[in-house]
Amino acid sequence: MRLLIDDAHIELINKAYEFYPVDGVTTNPTILSKIGGNPFDTLKSIRKLIGDDELHVQAVSRKAEDIVEEAKYIINILGGNTYVKIPAIPEGFKAMKMLDCSTQILYTATAIYTPMQAYLAAECGAAYVAPYVNRIDNMGFNGLEITKQIQDIFENNEMETEVLAASFKNSQQVLELCEYGITAATVSPDLLVAFAKNSAIDEAVETFIEDFESFAGKGKTMRDFK
Ligand code: E4P
Repeated sequence: MRLLIDDAHIELINKAYEFYPVDGVTTNPTILSKIGGNPFDTLKSIRKLIGDDELHVQAVSRKAEDIVEEAKYIINILGGNTYVKIPAIPEGFKAMKMLDCSTQILYTATAIYTPMQAYLAAECGAAYVAPYVNRIDNMGFNGLEITKQIQDIFENNEMETEVLAASFKNSQQVLELCEYGITAATVSPDLLVAFAKNSAIDEAVETFIEDFESFAGKGKTMRDFK
């Protein structure tokens, strides 16, 4: 499962990249609103930091023709391996079809709440669809089951579109989709840290170091011996 960071704070992305196997960054208008200012200042900084890794940026136009122009504009500024997020609504599907016929622009169908919405986006030619696991749960449906259902639909219909699972509230949700074979997920920096965080892990590692130092000496490591 490829892991992307769902955030736009450069210092948090930098930290995630330093310590964890991270494959890219996703943003949405709400995430960008937390930074403010010129969104391209933020996005260019992210692009510079992550190099050629995936960067997902949402188009906010309401009409298909405008979404297409906005998508081209975004790609022109942020370069290759930028995925334009397009909401899976009627104007969005229309834009996806237009993009698919006339350009090489890659896009992620976003705001996915139903399996058939994902199917339509895949038929249009979306590279990814992003089901919102936690938001679906909050509506009284099962976000994990819907995400798995989407994966089954793609596999059973031999569609190349991938699931980029989104909107998580805990690591168990991500784990369950990882076990199921979902190939990409976007998570907050906090959730990424929570994947490998509990006091038992810290205690075990600390005990190993203390045991070594008990016979080798304080601060000694294997490099102090031949
Ligand atoms: C990704 O495409 C979504 O924008 C994002 O994961 C939504 O997450 P939230 O429900 O935590 O806002």
